[in-house]
Amino acid sequence: MDGNGRWAKRRGLPRTEGHTAGEENLAEVVRVCANRNVGFLTVFGFSTENWVRPPAEVKHILSLHKRLFGRIEELNANNVRIQWIGRPFDEPGSKTPAFIQRAILQAIEDTAHNTGMVLTVAFDYGSRAELLRAAQRARTSQQSAQNISMQGISDNLYSPTLPPVDVVVRTSGESRISNFLLWQIMGAKVYFTERTWPDFDTHEIDNALKLVHDR
Ligand code: FPP
Repeated sequence: MDGNGRWAKRRGLPRTEGHTAGEENLAEVVRVCANRNVGFLTVFGFSTENWVRPPAEVKHILSLHKRLFGRIEELNANNVRIQWIGRPFDEPGSKTPAFIQRAILQAIEDTAHNTGMVLTVAFDYGSRAELLRAAQRARTSQQSAQNISMQGISDNLYSPTLPPVDVVVRTSGESRISNFLLWQIMGAKVYFTERTWPDFDTHEIDNALKLVHDR
């Protein structure tokens, strides 16, 4: 969800306002995607690298996660089930504050009965850390370091039930892949757009989905 900062700068607003607009747009994108019968939407909310941003910005982005995870009524109305991927809270190095841990676990519980789209939020997430951990766990469970299999890695990802990605969306003119779902995106289409995240609208969603349907 790139470009919140740039969106705000163009309007002479503080970066935090861009993130606020980004969270509001995410709520709208979730509604539209659920309506379009998208099965899985996975968003990069906060990366393992984002902790070094200015403390006030980090605090603000965290509060927006709490806001998103608190949108239970809307999520239930749209039959959306919340999931989370990221560094486990009990792992060394975990920095996720208790109020976010609680918000994540509560949202998962409160939407568990929904049968429609799965919205997975990547928070304190990094793909390389996920893959390293998956390899370590595969080695432990397979007893022999020589025999780590593809299946062993897949089975030990943070969310092994996430299907392969059909389309990656990258906003705000960033034409590169980042530390996001590197295992899962093999073979995915990529939709690059100049639009900043807060301006990523229904028309943009449909353009991205066209890449999947035209396969
Ligand atoms: C990247 O834009 C955006 C982020 C690091 C934060 C994404 C967070 C949100 C959209 C808030 C709500 C999200 C959730 C899941 C609750 P940037 O800050 O790098 O913007 P820039 O590239 O223009 O500087």
